[in-house]
Amino acid sequence: MTSSDTNGKRVLVAGATGYLGKFAVQQFKRRGYWVRALTRSEERLRRGGPFTAPAIAPEDCDEIFVGEATKPETLAGLLDGIDIVFSSIGISRQRDGLTFEQVDYQANRNLIDLCSGTSVENFVYVSMLGAEQISNLAITIAHERVVETLRTSGLEYTIVRPSGYFSDMGVLLDMAKRGRALLVGSGNNRFTPIHGRDLADVCVDAAAGSDREVEAGGPETMTQREAAALAFDVAGKPVKMTVIPLWLAKGLARTIGLLNTQFGDLAEFIVTAGEVDAVAPTRGRTTLRSYFESLNDS
Ligand SMILES: NC(=O)c1ccc[n+]([C@@H]2O[C@H](COP(=O)([O-])OP(=O)(O)OC[C@H]3O[C@@H](n4cnc5c(N)ncnc54)[C@H](OP(=O)(O)O)[C@@H]3O)[C@@H](O)[C@H]2O)c1
Repeated sequence: MTSSDTNGKRVLVAGATGYLGKFAVQQFKRRGYWVRALTRSEERLRRGGPFTAPAIAPEDCDEIFVGEATKPETLAGLLDGIDIVFSSIGISRQRDGLTFEQVDYQANRNLIDLCSGTSVENFVYVSMLGAEQISNLAITIAHERVVETLRTSGLEYTIVRPSGYFSDMGVLLDMAKRGRALLVGSGNNRFTPIHGRDLADVCVDAAAGSDREVEAGGPETMTQREAAALAFDVAGKPVKMTVIPLWLAKGLARTIGLLNTQFGDLAEFIVTAGEVDAVAPTRGRTTLRSYFESLNDS
């Protein structure tokens, strides 16, 4: 879709301060949409985020709405004049003490509920590849409850299902620079990591398309070990990996869960992700090496 085809459509980007959300704000705007960004902090929106997430400049969006999706009372007027809602709201590195149920499910549920009786015609939601097949984790349960809510909402919707993000690969490069990478499980599970900018482009396409589900991966299929080896190569360090066996990782995750529900749920997810393949069709073009090199230079 070119900018002239968007017909002045107005999009709300929720999750705009996040890794994917920042790229989504920029890509919707570049491709001709009128963009309102939902954020908890305008200051953080304007600043660059970790792992090359861009700073949002005045020309990157038309309006900023400061509110909190977990608190419906802060959202009055959020969807005024909006045609499309895009949401990548979810917990990744936040330390708010909230659960996946409270954020990944309830915050998105609040946005869906808000659509009723408004001009919103389409909701683009970012879940994850394979979440519908992993039904026992707090994060996948929360994501798929959002999907189910959309299915019965009467709204047009698209579910985007990405493989791993380059932001998570940035963590591997950080470890490689420090001299040792920790891997959970054998490290031989395969996946197709994707750059946030490439994925944002997929999301803009999804907003204009008619597919209900869109799976999206980057240009390379690799194992966790191969990604780590690449990180060491770019960091110019000898490869040193410590593998945490699954039995031990599972035990650790359970112990963490007894101490803190949010961290325990996250640890359980990391352990499960270390066990399964997550290979999606190629939608991104940026290679992991070029991303590591740009991170290394920055
Ligand atoms: N990382 C991966 O490999 C991967 C793969 C597949 C799918 N996903 C999913 O993709 C989505 C986006 O990921 P991301 O890496 O872009 O995440 P991110 O950088 O953590 O951004 C998530 C967004 O959710 C918002 N959020 C978190 N807690 C909130 C709260 N209590 N109230 C309101 N907003 C809150 C964040 O706002 P603040 O910035 O204000 O905290 C941020 O804008 C997530 O749902 C994730 O599960 C990730």
